[in-house]
Amino acid sequence: MVSKVITSAVVAGLAVASSARLAGKSSISRPNIEPYPKTLSHPLPTSPQRNKTCSVTSRGSGDDDASAILQAFNDCNNGGTVVLDSDYTIGTALDLTFLNGVDVALSGSITFTDDIDYWVENSFKYDYQNSSTFWKFGGKDVNIYGGGIGLLDGNGQAWYDQFAAEPTLLRPITLVLDGLQGGSWFNLIANSSDILVSDVTINVGSTSSNPAKNTDGWDTLRSDSVVIQDSIVNNGDDCVSFKPNSTNIVVQGLSCNGSHGISVGSLGQYPLEYDIVENVYVYNNTMSNAGDGARIKVWPGIDTAFEPGLNGGGGAGYVRNVTYEMYHNVNNDWIIELNQCYGQSNTTLCQMYPSNMTISDIYFLDFTGTSSKKYDPRVGTLVCSSSEQCYNIHARNISITPPSGKAPQWICNGFDTVDLEGFNCTSS
Ligand SMILES: *[C@@H]1O[C@H](CO)[C@@H](O)[C@H](O)[C@H]1NC(C)=O
Ligand SMILES: *[C@@H]1O[C@H](CO)[C@@H](O)[C@H](O)[C@H]1NC(C)=O
Ligand SMILES: *[C@@H]1O[C@H](CO)[C@@H](O)[C@H](O)[C@H]1NC(C)=O
Ligand SMILES: *[C@@H]1O[C@H](CO)[C@@H](O)[C@H](O)[C@H]1NC(C)=O
Ligand SMILES: *[C@@H]1O[C@H](CO)[C@@H](O)[C@H](O)[C@H]1NC(C)=O
Ligand SMILES: *[C@@H]1O[C@H](CO)[C@@H](O)[C@H](O)[C@H]1NC(C)=O
Ligand SMILES: *[C@@H]1O[C@H](CO)[C@@H](O)[C@H](O)[C@H]1NC(C)=O
Ligand SMILES: *[C@@H]1O[C@H](CO)[C@@H](O)[C@H](O)[C@H]1NC(C)=O
Ligand SMILES: *[C@@H]1O[C@H](CO)[C@@H](O)[C@H](O)[C@H]1NC(C)=O
Ligand SMILES: *[C@@H]1O[C@H](CO)[C@@H](O)[C@H](O)[C@H]1NC(C)=O
Ligand SMILES: *[C@@H]1O[C@H](CO)[C@@H](O)[C@H](O)[C@H]1NC(C)=O
Repeated sequence: MVSKVITSAVVAGLAVASSARLAGKSSISRPNIEPYPKTLSHPLPTSPQRNKTCSVTSRGSGDDDASAILQAFNDCNNGGTVVLDSDYTIGTALDLTFLNGVDVALSGSITFTDDIDYWVENSFKYDYQNSSTFWKFGGKDVNIYGGGIGLLDGNGQAWYDQFAAEPTLLRPITLVLDGLQGGSWFNLIANSSDILVSDVTINVGSTSSNPAKNTDGWDTLRSDSVVIQDSIVNNGDDCVSFKPNSTNIVVQGLSCNGSHGISVGSLGQYPLEYDIVENVYVYNNTMSNAGDGARIKVWPGIDTAFEPGLNGGGGAGYVRNVTYEMYHNVNNDWIIELNQCYGQSNTTLCQMYPSNMTISDIYFLDFTGTSSKKYDPRVGTLVCSSSEQCYNIHARNISITPPSGKAPQWICNGFDTVDLEGFNCTSS
């Protein structure tokens, strides 16, 4: 939610594959991947063959390879392929937003140093939720592929340990795509359009007693026409999250474990801002051991404190035309959580100050599987601040079994529940 660190993103479905990486240089070529089975309303732009390669020699011993990598991007921009087939270290922030027609063939590994003092000072900062990044990609027509063995390692452990002592620490995001038109594979997708993410594995975990915090798999922000598919996410925060101004998004074929769900929001956090999430299709995903399966969270109409470094509410806008279809659940606390009172536990206060964000035309279809024992026999919660701001909420063919085997119950409050087929609603 606030800022995020991904410990490691293994590109193309392989667990941390150090043996494969150490086995020697591998040459990989751009895979041919299309959105499937759901597609966007228009085809993604095609990307011409590259006609030049720029290899980067690693300095080894943990020495900083950032300047050599930057040089390769300069040399191979406008039609080439940057080949990263060794183990590299990055200890300097890299601004790669000048790209135009370049491939990145990452069959090696990239590890960011754990020099917290340096990164706090020098990472790229964004206003949105105090986020920051080690490097950013932007421009036009960029493909990053890992051939099943490429590895990005954010070195999250040092950050989780420091964050436990310092809750306002700004922790960088492993990969930010900022203003990219046409491309593939990233973590924060911001100011971008026509993006395809496919066959990526993200593993986040802490080896100390300090939890890995704020570790979203992918976030979209101010972005249009994005497909995220056929990937594996093991983390402890949102698996995918649609932040302000995410439109025409497809998420399909994911397997998420231990997360906070596939989430719209949070939205409406900042007073005076206007947030839009529209035309989102979440199709045929599996969610296991999560706090939530399908989640929509917007702040109420009043700005109050929530957690250290996190407060909000009062922002306006809308969430419209969001579908979750064929959703397989395994041991999730809430199968569906729709909340128009996010960050505010006082429901009286929430109803006194209804959200300035409308939620409408929402579809939950064909859900299967099990909930966890946490709220048994309750399996979901849908709480709105007012029926004027929350309408056309549909559920159909939802078949969920809580561990007790009892008839599942749903908490439903503050909106017209006529379109929730077969729901047994209680008010708390
Ligand atoms: C390589 O591709 C770039 C961009 O598509 C083009 O401008 C350039 O002329 C090509 N060079 C060669 C040698 O084909
Ligand atoms: C996206 O663009 C906005 C301006 O339109 C800028 O303020 C912001 O820093 C950019 N990047 C991110 C990640 O928000
Ligand atoms: C749903 O996803 C699973 C696993 O990714 C896949 O095997 C199956 O073919 C998909 N089904 C449909 C109808 O797309
Ligand atoms: C899923 O996450 C749980 C923790 O929530 C973990 O114990 C388990 O090992 C993970 N499963 C897989 C297949 O990674
Ligand atoms: C989202 O789009 C609306 C309408 O174009 C705009 O007013 C608002 O500033 C945008 N919000 C963000 C966070 O970029
Ligand atoms: C709703 O969104 C889907 C894509 O998710 C799109 O195909 C459809 O046209 C949208 N419907 C409306 C009424 O905008
Ligand atoms: C950023 O963090 C500071 C310090 O924790 C906090 O006061 C501020 O509200 C945060 N800003 C945003 C935009 O979340
Ligand atoms: C909730 O907010 C209302 C309105 O401000 C207040 O009267 C009430 O005491 C609050 N309840 C709790 C439990 O804080
Ligand atoms: C938010 O809603 C409140 C009423 O709940 C209203 O007084 C206020 O003007 C709204 N603010 C915006 C920015 O729409
Ligand atoms: C209900 O959902 C299940 C699981 O996705 C599907 O197999 C079944 O065909 C659906 N039934 C109806 C009546 O749509
Ligand atoms: C709804 O819940 C009540 C209370 O637990 C239970 O008695 C009733 O059988 C349930 N009805 C259905 C249709 O599941």
